[in-house]
Amino acid sequence: MVYNIGMKYQSFYRTYRPQSFDEVVGQKPIIRTLKNALLNNKIGHAYLFCGPHGTGKTTLARLFAKALNCEEGVGHECGECENCKAIISGTHPDVYELDAASNSGVDNIRELIEQVRYEPILGRYKVYIIDEVHSMTNSAFNALLKTLEEPPEHVIFILATTEPQKVLPTILSRVQRYDFSKISDEDLVSNMEKVLEKENIEYTGEALRMIARLAEGGARDSLSILEQVVSYSGNKVESSDVETLFGLLSIEEKIEIVKNIHENKVKETLSMIKEKYLHGADIVRLHDDLVNIYKDLLIYGSTKDKSLLTVLTPEEALPLAIGPQELINNLNILTEARRQYKLVNNSFDHFELSIIQLLSISKVKIEIPTIKEVEKKDEEVKEKVQPVVSPVENKIELEEEKPIVDVAPQVNPDDLLHFDENEVINIMLQGDKEFKEQLMAKWNVLKEYRSDKKYGLAANYLSCTILRIVNENIIVVETPLIAQVSRINNNGTRKIYQELMSKAFGFSPVVYAMTGEEYKNAITMFRQLNQIQKLPKPQKIEKI
Ligand SMILES: Nc1ncnc2c1ncn2[C@@H]1O[C@H](COP(=O)(O)OP(=O)(O)OP(=O)(O)O)[C@@H](O)[C@H]1O
Ligand SMILES: [Mg+2]
Ligand SMILES: [Zn+2]
Repeated sequence: MVYNIGMKYQSFYRTYRPQSFDEVVGQKPIIRTLKNALLNNKIGHAYLFCGPHGTGKTTLARLFAKALNCEEGVGHECGECENCKAIISGTHPDVYELDAASNSGVDNIRELIEQVRYEPILGRYKVYIIDEVHSMTNSAFNALLKTLEEPPEHVIFILATTEPQKVLPTILSRVQRYDFSKISDEDLVSNMEKVLEKENIEYTGEALRMIARLAEGGARDSLSILEQVVSYSGNKVESSDVETLFGLLSIEEKIEIVKNIHENKVKETLSMIKEKYLHGADIVRLHDDLVNIYKDLLIYGSTKDKSLLTVLTPEEALPLAIGPQELINNLNILTEARRQYKLVNNSFDHFELSIIQLLSISKVKIEIPTIKEVEKKDEEVKEKVQPVVSPVENKIELEEEKPIVDVAPQVNPDDLLHFDENEVINIMLQGDKEFKEQLMAKWNVLKEYRSDKKYGLAANYLSCTILRIVNENIIVVETPLIAQVSRINNNGTRKIYQELMSKAFGFSPVVYAMTGEEYKNAITMFRQLNQIQKLPKPQKIEKI
């Protein structure tokens, strides 16, 4: 059967859920404490696992349940006995996994909790894993509270949430709380390496480090990004694939920008960032990347300790002999500007302005001075720097140099199509399931457009998404990355996607992207409204 995109790679993160404590990366203190509790038979009745998405809460909850019930004894995780096997396959009669946020969960949570007094059927303990516990309904919540007050010996609750601040104090006071942390890039990389080795897929370390950075501490995200890259690139994961798919700049390109800024090449610098932007570069990420490069240069410059480098290699850092004062000034400007992205309505303009400030700074040439000289020159620099930093003057200066050629129409990065939850629900009401299935079966056709000059990038983005809602006017797709969402929803490139859809599938709907999280929230709300029979009537979909 032809099914969804890249079926073979669909679920790295499901296929590779750790099956023993030792396979979990990060979360070491939590694992140690849980293991000790098992070893000393000091098992609490209620645990709260909180922390960011995809960092191992559900995974560790299941592993804990397994270690509690393994037939070889508490604390074992043989993986072979009936209990272990049933827990791995999710069919253990005493291990309940409930999602408090989903509608089916709400239905039976209360009932299930009321049954806690019955002895376990197969294992030693009944384990209730309740996900997203902060969104429990009142009646389920009260049942839970009552049980937590006097839990039967054989019952263990593991509550999980990404939003511990929303869990009521009455619950908090009755649980042992574990705060999961984001997973370090190093751990994410080694986790991905294991997966790729099992899949027999080659990779470069640089590509995996890039993916780790994109995943921002989430193991699930790192694996789903990896999946996307693998389904795009086939049998070798390389940094250039990650760059293309996620609109990233290569380290060489970023170094070139840094060099051009330092050499005060206004025209080259500005046209390069503009070009990258028009090709879909994620501007805020680029901003952060430049900060990291400057930091590396500053720290390496003063210590010559290569173990302190985070993004550059010594070979890359050495030729960039930029004086400490200039680096400090650049870092100051960039850190200050970084805070303002939330406030401005055009990220690119804002970024460009920061770069212009750097360009003026780099004019104040200081040859790597000694500390004394730095102190002495500090005052002079300040005097020279301040006037040129003023954006107004920069603009004037630029006009004189006429550096920017209008290569392409200006696209406003914040000019994004956005639907709020109600609007998404309205779209859901108009989804055509059968049509969606037909389209899904043909989704692979997009791959044929991947090297197309005009539609290549759009085809790449789209072929990595999951089709969620389809009707003839609009399709909604899910992508794991915010950066990709904003690229697909950019009003400036809407037509490209419509044309591509028309070429590939013969109709030209607006394409709208959502993150998994957004989609999950919308569907939860949809179900809840449906349950209480409060779904609205379908209305004309505005904005498209
Ligand atoms: N610490 C980890 N070590 C190894 N893999 C992990 C880890 N955390 C998550 N994963 C991977 O991500 C997948 C999802 O993890 P899990 O369900 O445990 O996340 P979670 O913290 O419960 O997330 P959510 O808040 O979204 O429920 C796992 O199947 C596994 O592939
Ligand atoms: Mg979970
Ligand atoms: Zn076992």
